[in-house]
Amino acid sequence: MLAGKHILVIISGGIAAYKAIELIRLIQKAGGTAQAILTQSATHFISPLTVSAISGRPALTELFDLTRETEIGHIELSRSADLIVVAPATASLIARMANGLADDLASTCLLATDTDILVAPAMNVRMWDAAATRRNIALLEADGVKIVGPDAGEMACGEYGPGRLAEPETVLAAIEGYFSQSSALRPLAGKKIVVTSGPTREPIDPVRYISNASSGKQGVAIAEALAGEGADVVFVTGPAEAASPRGCTIVPVTTALEMEAAVQKALPAAGAVFCAAVADWRVTNPSGQKFKKDADATPPRIEFAPNPDILKTVAALPEGKRPRLVVGFAAETGDLRARARAKREKKGCDWLLANDVSPGSRVFGGEDTAILFFSDEGEEDWGALSKHQAAARLAKRMALTLKD
Ligand code: C5P
Repeated sequence: MLAGKHILVIISGGIAAYKAIELIRLIQKAGGTAQAILTQSATHFISPLTVSAISGRPALTELFDLTRETEIGHIELSRSADLIVVAPATASLIARMANGLADDLASTCLLATDTDILVAPAMNVRMWDAAATRRNIALLEADGVKIVGPDAGEMACGEYGPGRLAEPETVLAAIEGYFSQSSALRPLAGKKIVVTSGPTREPIDPVRYISNASSGKQGVAIAEALAGEGADVVFVTGPAEAASPRGCTIVPVTTALEMEAAVQKALPAAGAVFCAAVADWRVTNPSGQKFKKDADATPPRIEFAPNPDILKTVAALPEGKRPRLVVGFAAETGDLRARARAKREKKGCDWLLANDVSPGSRVFGGEDTAILFFSDEGEEDWGALSKHQAAARLAKRMALTLKD
């Protein structure tokens, strides 16, 4: 059930910490791998050595890892997991999570991640019932954190009621349930998709450049929509004003040549969407020094060379190297249909989304667009819609085509 899944197991301090060892064993039996992090208080209940031996990789504790590793190491650690499981989760760790505190390795990883989190609380019944814990659990649930347990029963402290850590088998079932549900909800899971976005910038001298007004908004919306379908999105972006898409690998570039190199490096991929407004020409003789505007000096002469057509190059790659689905855009002013059809032919892409960027259309830089969609099956008018709606529609269609 968990083949190929990597779980980050965060163990906080409580009598039930020993049950995390059984949970790690069950994860492994189900085909998954587990990396453990122990909070400092967890080390009073179980030894990191035992956990390391069972998980087959060094259990990390806040004590030496925070001084030995860089912050990036922790961020990587939490993002590379397919799911983070906090078991047992004490009232204190739950409170820190709910309030976004990052004061040790465990809480830093929990805050720095965009991976889903499953929490298995374990605490004294009165602590579980306390108004503050109720509030914190409600906050976590509102943030999308999943909760399993706690069970009711006799507690180590002699009291009776809810607060006991859910049995390791129950936590495992919740983990398996998460993955079976998420594979239905995430049809592009495990599939890499490259998205280019934004303008490129071609230098004339160290401070001047040729570029265009692409905002990058459509590219960001597409990248986020594809990530939402579960894809591993590599987002290659020129200098754009739009904020980077969440849940994607961001590769910032400046020039068209850099964009091409970054796209080639990201291949192979299942799909590629070319949203960038790439400068058609680059300056062949950029000056190493800033051009001076001395009154008697002749104005500089700028020479141009054509930039590589990244979409056309990738669409022409041989089978095996070519992404299965190559999607291009056409921004046209006038005669949209005929030009878009011709462009799909010329570029060799599978799908082409055309929009009218005539003055007055406010597509460039705006929130809305109007799309004509071209494929082997013909043409579809998507009409006027927001860039987010266009992105969601494209991502769903890509998911249907690429899911098997
Ligand atoms: O030829 P035109 O610029 O109109 O083509 C637009 C499509 O081609 C877009 O998908 C754009 O991202 C892509 N393109 C590219 N490399 C270029 C020029 C355009 O990938 N040098």
